[in-house]
Amino acid sequence: MSNPVKLSVIYYSSTGVGTEIANTLVAEAEAAGAEVRLRRVPELAPDAAIDSNPAWRANVEATRSVPEATPDDVVWADAVIFGSPTRFGNIASQLKQFIDTLGGQWAQGQLADKIYSGFTSSSTAHGGQESTLLALYNTFHHFGGIVVAPGFTDGAKFADGNPYGTSHVDAQGANKVDDVTRAAAAVQARRVVAIARALKNGQAS
Ligand SMILES: Cc1cc2nc3c(=O)[nH]c(=O)nc-3n(C[C@H](O)[C@H](O)[C@H](O)COP(=O)(O)O)c2cc1C
Repeated sequence: MSNPVKLSVIYYSSTGVGTEIANTLVAEAEAAGAEVRLRRVPELAPDAAIDSNPAWRANVEATRSVPEATPDDVVWADAVIFGSPTRFGNIASQLKQFIDTLGGQWAQGQLADKIYSGFTSSSTAHGGQESTLLALYNTFHHFGGIVVAPGFTDGAKFADGNPYGTSHVDAQGANKVDDVTRAAAAVQARRVVAIARALKNGQAS
């Protein structure tokens, strides 16, 4: 496809739930015709903390080949999907740290007029997924971004039930990313790419 939508999926994941969702978003967005960059933000936790949880160490090792995000990955993109696990109802400090490196690009207006969306996961069903996504979306307004949430725009969304973004309840590791969450990610990826394409084409004409 000539001049495809450029999408960055920029995420933090400790124990791999977010990694699974990010990979699904990438596959679905590529199937929808986007050129995609998958990026993880730098880990900030010390090795002692990572080694206290085998799932955390396993995810660190499994994602070593995923490039670390840089501000250019946001500037380059027509659309950015950010992801973070819920941390006490908010985004993880690792993702916040990356976002807080974007002041220079913000000051130059390089973050504005893009599509933004988000995904998350938590251990419990009412553990703060929506507050995490809404907290993330506060930032997108400061960017001058255009927030594209999935809403209930597809029947699949009535299964996962989160109109703010793809989310998954991991039940402390007992509930792996499943077809319900993958279907929600597919809806979000297709919607972000379609609206980014419409915006891009409109701006070009
Ligand atoms: C410090 C900390 C805070 C957390 N806070 C919440 C929370 O508020 N609600 C919740 O349901 N789960 C909470 N969790 C669980 C994670 O959000 C959950 O396991 C998530 O799916 C992990 O995603 P990841 O595998 O991508 O790191 C917390 C975990 C940690 C380590």
